[in-house]
Order: sequence, then C-alpha cells, then structure tokens
Amino acid sequence: MTGVAKQFALRLARTVDCFVASLLAMTAFCLLALPALAEDARTLAPQPPRGQGEHCVADTDFMRRNHMLMMMDHRREVLHDGVREKKYSLAGCVSCHAVKGADGAPVSFADEKHFCRSCHSYVAVRIDCFECHKSTPDAPQKSAVREQGNDAKKLAAYLREVKP
Ligand code: HEC
Ligand code: HEC
Ligand code: HEC
Repeated sequence: MTGVAKQFALRLARTVDCFVASLLAMTAFCLLALPALAEDARTLAPQPPRGQGEHCVADTDFMRRNHMLMMMDHRREVLHDGVREKKYSLAGCVSCHAVKGADGAPVSFADEKHFCRSCHSYVAVRIDCFECHKSTPDAPQKSAVREQGNDAKKLAAYLREVKP
C-alpha cells in the first residue's frame, strides 16, 4: 500500500469507529436517558382538576383533543341554526369544571387555577371567550348574553356594547 492509501484506510477506519461509537452512545442515551425524560414530562404535564360527576359531555380523551372544535361547532349551531342544546353550552363547562378558591367560591378565569387555564398556560394558548362569557357557574353576564338572541345585528350591537 502506498502511504496515501494507508492514511486513507486509517482515516476511514477511524471514521467508522467514530460512527459505531456514536451509534452506541445514542443507543445508550435512548436506553438510559429517555425514560428519565419521559418521567419528567409526565410530572411537568398539566394536571387539570377533575370535573364534577362521573363523565364529561363526551369521552374524556375526545374532550382533551377536541373540546375547542366541539365548542365552535356548538356555537355555530346556536348562532346560525338556533339549536339550543344545553349539554354543550359554555355555561355547562364552567359549572361542572368549577374550581374552588381559598374563600370556597369558584374562581374566575382571572385565577390561574381556573380549569380552562390549567392546560392553556402550559401550551401557551390564549382564549378570549371569557371577555364575554361568564367563567364561573350561575352567570348573570351569561344571561345578559342570552337575551341578545341569535340575530346577527343584535349580536353586533351587543359586541359594540361590551367592547367600547
Ligand atoms: C356534567 C359535568 C360536566 C360537564 C357539563 C362538562 N364536563 Fe368536562 N369533564 C367532566 C368530568 C367528570 C371529567 C373527567 C372525566 C374522567 O376523568 O374521565 C371531564 C373532563 C374534561 C376534560 C379532560 C380533562 C383532563 O383531565 O384531561 C376536558 C378538556 C373537558 N372536560 C372539557 C369540557 C368542556 C369544554 C365542556 C363544555 C363543552 C365540559 N367539559 C363539560 C365533567 C363535565
Ligand atoms: C365578543 C363577545 C364574545 C366572545 C369573545 C365569545 N363569545 Fe361566545 N357568544 C357570544 C354571544 C353574544 C353569543 C350568543 C348568545 C346566545 O345567543 O345565547 C355567544 C354564544 C356562544 C355559544 C353558544 C351558547 C352557549 O353558551 O352554549 C358558545 C358555545 C360560545 N359562544 C362559545 C364561545 C367560545 C368557546 C369563545 C372563545 C373562543 C367565545 N364564545 C367567545 C359572545 C362572545
Ligand atoms: C386537558 C387540557 C385542557 C383543558 C382542561 C382545556 N383546554 Fe382548551 N386547549 C387545550 C390545548 C392543548 C389546546 C390547543 C390545541 C391546538 O392548538 O390544536 C386548546 C385550545 C383551545 C381553544 C382554541 C384556541 C385557539 O386559539 O386555537 C379553545 C377555544 C379552548 N381551548 C377552550 C377551552 C375552554 C373554554 C376550556 C375550559 C372549559 C378549556 N379549553 C380547557 C387543552 C385544554
């Protein structure tokens, strides 16, 4: 072998070694470190307070993933078709998912313990729903919203009123 070829062969061998070593290192990392990371993720994950009663308005896992779509669907039904199915109303969500504060009264959305903030802070989602809707059970504001009816003009007037 010429000197150059020998050097090349050596370098190749070193590269292969290096590759094998990093594969080994990666495998070791997966075996050792990842379960620890997963454990961390589990303890850091949000722990939303449990709702009242046995079940949610739909399967819990479905709710976790799709509650936003469900509420948007329901809102569309109410506003456009006048369907008033209480089961999926926002008032229902906040009443079954009410979380009590230090004074024993349900906390509002301003409190970070509010059910609807328990995951959102974690995933950095912001919602404006509670600028108009009541975030605690038994809503005086909610009944104000209710009286507007589903007429688009009335709704617009209402929105001007609540957002000066
Ligand atoms: C009748 C009471 C009730 C109503 C009304 C209700 N929920 Fe629930 N919700 C529950 C209960 C109880 C659970 C926990 C079920 C479980 O652990 O399997 C739950 C679970 C959830 C979860 C999953 C929480 C988690 O632990 O990951 C979400 C999200 C949720 N509800 C959102 C909503 C929304 C949005 C509404 C309104 C459309 C709503 N819920 C209405 C009782 C209710
Ligand atoms: C600017 C004010 C405003 C904001 C912000 C707002 N809403 Fe509404 N919402 C209304 C009004 C007004 C109605 C009509 C009330 C009625 O006719 O009952 C309504 C109706 C609804 C309804 C159907 C009635 C019920 O309670 O079941 C749902 C569901 C709903 N909104 C969900 C939401 C969600 C979810 C958000 C946030 C993403 C949101 N809204 C943000 C004003 C608002
Ligand atoms: C189990 C955790 C969890 C709880 C509890 C929860 N959310 Fe969510 N929510 C999420 C996640 C995660 C997203 C973002 C989903 C995405 O980006 O696809 C989200 C998104 C949303 C959105 C859409 C926001 C946007 O800008 O796209 C709305 C509206 C919403 N949530 C309303 C609510 C309301 C109202 C409550 C309380 C009744 C609530 N959520 C409780 C996890 C939760």
